[in-house]
Amino acid sequence: MAVGIFDSGLGGLTVLNAAQKRLPDVDFLYFADSAHAPYGVRDAENIYGLTRKAVNDLWNRGCDLVILACNTASAAALRRMQEEGVPEGKRVLGVFVPLIEALTERQWGDNSPPREVAVKHVALFATPATVSSRAFQRELAFRAIGVDVEAQACGGVVDAIEDGDLILAEALVRSHVDALKRKMPEPQAAILGCTHYPLMAETFQRALGSDVQVYSQGDLVAESLADYLQRHPKMQGDGESGFLTSGKPAFVSDRATQFLRRQITFEAA
Ligand code: DGL
Repeated sequence: MAVGIFDSGLGGLTVLNAAQKRLPDVDFLYFADSAHAPYGVRDAENIYGLTRKAVNDLWNRGCDLVILACNTASAAALRRMQEEGVPEGKRVLGVFVPLIEALTERQWGDNSPPREVAVKHVALFATPATVSSRAFQRELAFRAIGVDVEAQACGGVVDAIEDGDLILAEALVRSHVDALKRKMPEPQAAILGCTHYPLMAETFQRALGSDVQVYSQGDLVAESLADYLQRHPKMQGDGESGFLTSGKPAFVSDRATQFLRRQITFEAA
């Protein structure tokens, strides 16, 4: 049984890559809704509709578990989908919680009351839709008290990455970090709250300075998925993977191959 990994485009590959390394025997089916990327400039209703459709598609293709490897979809659609109820035997999970559990020094799934944590000043870099949802702050408030979060909506970065224009993406990242530092001069930690941003992790780290701890979701989500699969062992497979896109498969395959530095071949969804 394959685990479905969903993103608006290429960003979720940063999660898939980490998950494949951590769980080499698990089968994965990746779906990039490239025809509708970026999601981060859409309204919540629209993001919900697109996410719901893609997740249904992955469920219908046999994925019992789908990971929204997209913060924007997690922010706009996850809670609503879970509240509306999912089909028998199917599950959908997001990418916020593992990150916040790591930031707040918790074990996976530790739901004890919020408490004081070491990190007090946190910079959040995310898409405009994720920032305006305040979903990150809400999830954090369930687990920690006294943490000051300054959010920077990083307009344009996802488009530049999807287009393969990394020079533009770097320039935009530097200017978004400058803007954040004007609001919070000395963050202790920075959250890359969009799965596309780890592709620019070095630029973020350089612009922030080496004393800022940068959190990316790939390894954290992979670790929490490993914990989940240990409790649901029927999902072990042969380590196979498939890649689907609603966009142009040849173009998306080229970009994905460039980013992951291994051949990735997308097919039309
Ligand atoms: N990778 C998505 C995220 O984590 C990008 C969203 C977009 O398409 O704007 O938020």
